[in-house]
Amino acid sequence: MPRKILVTSALPYANGPLHFGHLLEAVQTDIWARFQRMQGNDCLYVCAEDAHGTPVMIKAQAEGITPEALIARITEEHRRDYREFLIGHDQFHTTHSIENREITNLLYERVRAGGHITTRSVRQAYDEKAGMFLPDRYVKGGCPRCGTPDQYGDSCESCGATYSPADLKNPISMVSGTPPVWRESEHYFFRLGHFAAVLQQWLQTGARQPQVRAKLAEWFEAGLNDWDISRDKPYFGFEIPGAPGKYFYVWFDAPIGYLGSFRALCNERGLDFDEYWNPQSHAEVYHFIGKDISYFHNLFWPAVLHGGGMRMPTGVFVHGFLTVNGGKMSKSRGTFITARRYLDLLPPEPLRYYFAGKLGAGIDDMDLNLDDFVARVNSDLVGKLVNIASRCAGFIARGGGRLADALPDAVLYAEFANKRDELARQFEAREFSSAIREIMLLADRANQYVDAHKPWALAKDPARSAEVLAVCTQGVNLFRVLMTYLAPVLPQMACNAAKFLGDPLSDWNAVVKPLLGTPLGTYEPLATRLDPKVVATLIDSEEVPAAAPPGKATTPKAPAIAASAAAVTAAATPTTIDIKDFAKLDLRIARVIAATQVEGSDKLLQLTLDLGGTQRNVFSGISGAYQPDQLVGRHVLMVANLAPRKMRFGVSEGMVLCASGAGPGLFLLSPDSGAEAGMSVT
Ligand code: 2FM
Ligand code: ZN
Repeated sequence: MPRKILVTSALPYANGPLHFGHLLEAVQTDIWARFQRMQGNDCLYVCAEDAHGTPVMIKAQAEGITPEALIARITEEHRRDYREFLIGHDQFHTTHSIENREITNLLYERVRAGGHITTRSVRQAYDEKAGMFLPDRYVKGGCPRCGTPDQYGDSCESCGATYSPADLKNPISMVSGTPPVWRESEHYFFRLGHFAAVLQQWLQTGARQPQVRAKLAEWFEAGLNDWDISRDKPYFGFEIPGAPGKYFYVWFDAPIGYLGSFRALCNERGLDFDEYWNPQSHAEVYHFIGKDISYFHNLFWPAVLHGGGMRMPTGVFVHGFLTVNGGKMSKSRGTFITARRYLDLLPPEPLRYYFAGKLGAGIDDMDLNLDDFVARVNSDLVGKLVNIASRCAGFIARGGGRLADALPDAVLYAEFANKRDELARQFEAREFSSAIREIMLLADRANQYVDAHKPWALAKDPARSAEVLAVCTQGVNLFRVLMTYLAPVLPQMACNAAKFLGDPLSDWNAVVKPLLGTPLGTYEPLATRLDPKVVATLIDSEEVPAAAPPGKATTPKAPAIAASAAAVTAAATPTTIDIKDFAKLDLRIARVIAATQVEGSDKLLQLTLDLGGTQRNVFSGISGAYQPDQLVGRHVLMVANLAPRKMRFGVSEGMVLCASGAGPGLFLLSPDSGAEAGMSVT
């Protein structure tokens, strides 16, 4: 009986691009889902856009568009990125959907009717100017413990202290730049503690990862607190039924988005939703997630499902974080690599292969080392795997293009085919790295076979053509077995190899029987070597071109920002402009709300500017001339209508004006006292 399986990966937020962290997880899930299908199991893979919440709302405001327009755009970008990485979602929906709203309301009504919702008043930072409550991360100020300025309202990046925004010194709202006030409002809470026994029991089921089990035990020990699931308007999300002005917190409806997406898939394909989600379901449900969101998926989510009368997941597969070149992915170090940047430079499968070679069933972090990436891909995929086929294909073509009717070394073939159960166990257990190691050992054996029988030498003697064909038939068959085992990892290569072999490579167990006496298609190179120079450009460019056309973004270094956006220097060759040109400039007074040194750059300061109600983020090359502290509170002149520029560190939304002469000095221009943020400069 084929198993019925539903898998998910975590929903990406609709406020930013996909990066390597997202891809690692999507690749892990996709490999597992493809492997299951090759086993003959019925495995569906759904995901969706995580569309709600304050960051999406604020980003849309900053862009002057509706949240709906923003999520539509970003969802399309995400879909495209996933597709080009060969992630085979059966459905990629959005949490801002009718299906999700209905299921969210249903689950909420059921947990409420079950007595699992309570309300109480919460005191929270409120931005009077923007008219909204502020999440902790939207309040900044001095750390109450060490005094470091410009720290988020939940924790200090300098000394590690955790606190609430009310503890900050001189707190400032990141939304309007004004000091927040503290206000009370009524919030809705999900009573997680009601589910302690059910959760404990659920956690005993299935094969849990030991490290996850240990963490959960700690959480149980600490006690399961009520979970605040409401946010006040204005908020981009679903309004809570019967609670005007109150919205479901994004994390309430996000995992429900798995169900919303699955419901949309059921509608499209005529599948039975309840067969997967009723409490007696025999289908298996697995969530692939990163360790940072384990609490949500191992406690809140199963509790909401159970309280809402639905089955709980069969398992939650937690993975570790991805580091790049030994460090945390960091925008300032240029190691925050987006999916798009990678795809503009390189094909997807080398990265899928590299990730597979790193992924195990544990939660340890994995490092992507770019040198290792190049070496591994060139050695394994090109030097070993493809080499087997490319060395044999030509001789078979010249010998009539048909495989021989028997294998000269059936024992060796059986050894390869007999690995299928062990490898299947490793894939099933998500021990991909072990599987890849085993497969590459087999690839070495296959190459040794070809090396030992030297078809190129035999081919010199026309009387030995049958031997040549036999040896190459053996080689191609060994290649076919390996390509079958790697098909979940390298689906496009497997598809191309399938055309060459005239065999679909879609059934794991089809390797039991070799391919004999059948014609081969034309051999096309299945993989090419990675160029280390191109790979190096993944992280070495200071400024990311906003829209690099595919395949063209190999320019190693775009001009550094300090030369272009930082200063208006006394131009050496002034050009005359007319009044119309001048009128195009929107010059404004801005007030510096926050200034920080950009990590990884010796030229740039990151400025948060208040433009009289709206805020701008500007990177300015004035670090040599000013200390960040000197700038906070100061009024400056800015070009407010400069098109946003995407830089390695983020988007720069304007330019601050400075004077400079022949010498090294840079001098910020400021208005006379009395001028206010937002005023036009005419
Ligand atoms: O952490 C995140 O990126 C969330 N957007 C993941 C949500 S997963 C699920 F619960 F929706
Ligand atoms: Zn501190």
